[in-house]
Amino acid sequence: MLTVEALRDLQGDATEWRRYLHANPELDYRLQNTARFVAEKLASFGINHIETGIAETGIVAMIQGEGGDGPTIGLRADMDALPIAEMSSKPWASKIPGCMHACGHDGHTAMLLGAAKYLAATRNFKGAVALIFQPAEEHGLGGRKMVQEGIMDRFGISRVFAMHTKPGLDVGKFDLCYGPIGAALDQFDIVVKGRGGHAASPHKNIDPIVIATQVIMGLQTLVSRGADPTDSLVISVTKLAAGQNYSIIPENVEIGGTVRTLVPALRDFAERQIIASAQGIARAFGADVEFEYRRQIPVTFNHVEETGMAIRAASNLVGPASVDSSIRPSMGSEDFAFMLEARPGAYIHIGNGATVSVHNPAYDFDDEALPYGIGYWVNLVEVALPASQ
Ligand code: NI
Repeated sequence: MLTVEALRDLQGDATEWRRYLHANPELDYRLQNTARFVAEKLASFGINHIETGIAETGIVAMIQGEGGDGPTIGLRADMDALPIAEMSSKPWASKIPGCMHACGHDGHTAMLLGAAKYLAATRNFKGAVALIFQPAEEHGLGGRKMVQEGIMDRFGISRVFAMHTKPGLDVGKFDLCYGPIGAALDQFDIVVKGRGGHAASPHKNIDPIVIATQVIMGLQTLVSRGADPTDSLVISVTKLAAGQNYSIIPENVEIGGTVRTLVPALRDFAERQIIASAQGIARAFGADVEFEYRRQIPVTFNHVEETGMAIRAASNLVGPASVDSSIRPSMGSEDFAFMLEARPGAYIHIGNGATVSVHNPAYDFDDEALPYGIGYWVNLVEVALPASQ
């Protein structure tokens, strides 16, 4: 099995690519330079089946194994940066004002390129590998768009895998879990519609502000009293807008927020009960509500067989003691979930050491993790697609 020591040469290449990408970040679907860079590298490795322009700037590239006929597995990296002004004095700091790779997608792209270079040179697997370079992960919709544009059928992908950097986990370690590893993400908007008027005569009006405060507390009571306490439900109100003037009770209050769940029943519960609770409270005080609920991203669900492959691949590289396969799921979300809805697969975290957290203006992917990510991908391909003897 491939070890990290065998990848030290590739680490040099991957470090150079990662730092170039870090210095030249691009946002959402507008990844023209990044996509051009990735496609040129893939071509330089001798990969001749490269399709660009999928989901605007996404890429799928195919590497055929020389170990016999077999299925195709998809390996996915995200390529987009964040609208954050970088705080860094490193030579590879972002050259683009207000834009930086603060979520390690530069590292993800460089690791998949490193694996591509290795796999294209060795081809010691059966079937084929589809390298999926995805735009707009931070939007949460680039993964969905690639699935909607039919990449799973078009490239005959039967299983999909992805990897994400994890600050706080040592370099050389991996972690994941079976089943839900990331939450479903939904959004809601509630408008509490009262009757505005003079603040000195509250009895002549229907004050939507007082009602809205009770609606918000009612939502928290749904979590504590309505949901099974052994399941996870987050309802966070993150937007609140009302009023302009000290003496005027406004007509309306706008409330917005997010819901995170790990199981479908709770997602249905939240959608149903948020409106019921808000309506009930508002009507008790003579007000009404408008309500909108949007299901944005599904649960990131790790399938049994593929999670087993991911654990074996990581363990082959770093030893089983450095792979934690029973972490608690995060209530964050990840648009790789759309690919996992379309095909079975697994999502794994790769340790990035004692860096600050992702989405922080001082975050910088630790290049020491690059050979571990490349080694994971290569081992995964050899585990999932073993060459026939
Ligand atoms: Ni990310």
